[in-house]
Amino acid sequence: MLSSSLIRPGARIRTLAATALLGLLAVFLLPVTPADASAPLRQHAAGRGKFIGTALATGPLSNETQYRTIAATEFSQITAENAMKWDATEPSQGQFNFSGADAIVDFATQNNQQVHGHTLVWHSQTPSWVQNLGATAMRTAMQNHISQVAGRYADNPALVSWDVVNEVFDDNGNLRTSFWYNTLGQSYIADAFRAARAADPDARLCINDYNVEGINAKSTAMYNLVSSLRQQGVPVDCVGFQGHLAIQYGFPNDLQQNLQRFADLGVQVRITELDVRMQMPRDSAKDATQATYYRNVVNACLAVTACAGVTIWGFTDKYSWVPDTFSGQGAALIYNESYQQKPSYTAVHDALAGGTSTDTTPPTAPGPPAATNITASSATLTWTASTDSGGSGLAGYTVYREQGSTDPQLGQSSTASVTLTGLSANTQYQVYVRARDGAGNLSTPSATATFTTTTGGGGPGGPCTATGTVQTQWNNGYVVQPVTVTNTGTAPTNGWTVTFTLPAGHTVTGSWNATLTTSGQTVTAKSLGYNGTLATGASTSFGFQASRPGGNTQTPSGYTCSAP
Ligand code: G3I
Repeated sequence: MLSSSLIRPGARIRTLAATALLGLLAVFLLPVTPADASAPLRQHAAGRGKFIGTALATGPLSNETQYRTIAATEFSQITAENAMKWDATEPSQGQFNFSGADAIVDFATQNNQQVHGHTLVWHSQTPSWVQNLGATAMRTAMQNHISQVAGRYADNPALVSWDVVNEVFDDNGNLRTSFWYNTLGQSYIADAFRAARAADPDARLCINDYNVEGINAKSTAMYNLVSSLRQQGVPVDCVGFQGHLAIQYGFPNDLQQNLQRFADLGVQVRITELDVRMQMPRDSAKDATQATYYRNVVNACLAVTACAGVTIWGFTDKYSWVPDTFSGQGAALIYNESYQQKPSYTAVHDALAGGTSTDTTPPTAPGPPAATNITASSATLTWTASTDSGGSGLAGYTVYREQGSTDPQLGQSSTASVTLTGLSANTQYQVYVRARDGAGNLSTPSATATFTTTTGGGGPGGPCTATGTVQTQWNNGYVVQPVTVTNTGTAPTNGWTVTFTLPAGHTVTGSWNATLTTSGQTVTAKSLGYNGTLATGASTSFGFQASRPGGNTQTPSGYTCSAP
């Protein structure tokens, strides 16, 4: 399955494979000198068999030399930020305008770059004349649009792939009730892919979405849809994970695992719209965290064979959609407004350069960890952050248990805090933290901290504990997964109940592995038939998704477990 998908589409991929091979040969045959280490992103990416892309806006592309120079020098793949969308290409029915799209394709051709087409069918940036059509006319208009737009570049070797449908899910993982869905039903998705294959048989055809980077309700819905479409013979070749991240909402630590589960379906995967925003103003600590996010995304793609590459959604903070959409946030890209490279550029560069890094300076030791929220099975550790001066940037922390000759790892984190779970009740733990940088250098250990877990059974409810971890967040919602439930008693549980407090204005919009009911701000989660029995010391987990007012950053608290 995997190999048959990866060798499509035929002729164009063979050309690209040859190009990648030449790139590899160049990397192996040229002497490795410091000059190579500072080579542009696209050279390092080619050496790893991946693309590194950027979205481009047509305004600065025609007006600014510096913009053009960086776009041409650093990137091997281009996506039109807006120029290939429906409102740009077919603003009135049957009246096509390819001026912006052609400018992008011409630029890429001149600079030996690939183009990823974005996007044929989307609920946004689609003119009202489309939205107001009846079912038969809308289906015909969709097929004609795909035929004209994808067909225009079908013989152009630069254009290698398309986002055929974009953002077909809502934030809860249900199919979005867009005008497409409301008028045509779910079948518009399969029809769009079939029309795209007919229009450009060689292009790789993708489905693209946001908030699907980690394993959650929405990405699982995407997984199920892709699996089912492919079983029906619908030509879905690739899945795009947009990657609009924010440092205040945490990194999706299961990104690599998630990419791999899609790859195992036989599709190619790619990061399509990466940016990492922050609350303004910028400072060096936020820049360092942002750099870690960029590095982790690139490394996740590098670690998954079927990941084709990473596209950043623009490259300079001078032109980014973020400040227009998220009030008070910005600085999401890898160059600042004056085209200076930021730490996030170095992070992407060094991750792609891999073995060519010359950083041998480890980060400083973390501050002593402090333990809080200690339960029978969990504890939260917080410490003062390390700094890294070697050039590759701080990548994260590992917590170890002091235990003699071999100290086992208890947890990892990309920030200066972690909640340890799965601890044994009534047990003393002596722990320390080490930082690591992007080149893999480890700091000396922090001072140790000692804490003792509670006995369990005596806390509220008992004899079980519950700890909730926010897996991913966005402006107006979040996913809590896992909520880990552990039997800390001396007998098996016969069903368990977890309660927690939802901040005002928040609503649970979906859940799995438990039945949730809400009364006021209190949510009660009850076990299901298959996970209510927990042996002494055993754990299970459930998860849920919630919406919240835009801009609110609160998450639930006060997880309490009780069991008969
Ligand atoms: O072109 C008009 C201009 O004539 C007018 O004067 C101006 C006034 O606001 O608007 C211009 O259009 C803007 C367009 O970008 C081009 O600059 C739209 O208002 C603005 O809404 C549009 O934003 C784009 C957004 O998609 C629309 O949904 C962003 O640039 C673009 O970065 C963003 O990209 C999306 C991806 O396609 C899909 N995934 C999410 C991503 C971020 O939202």
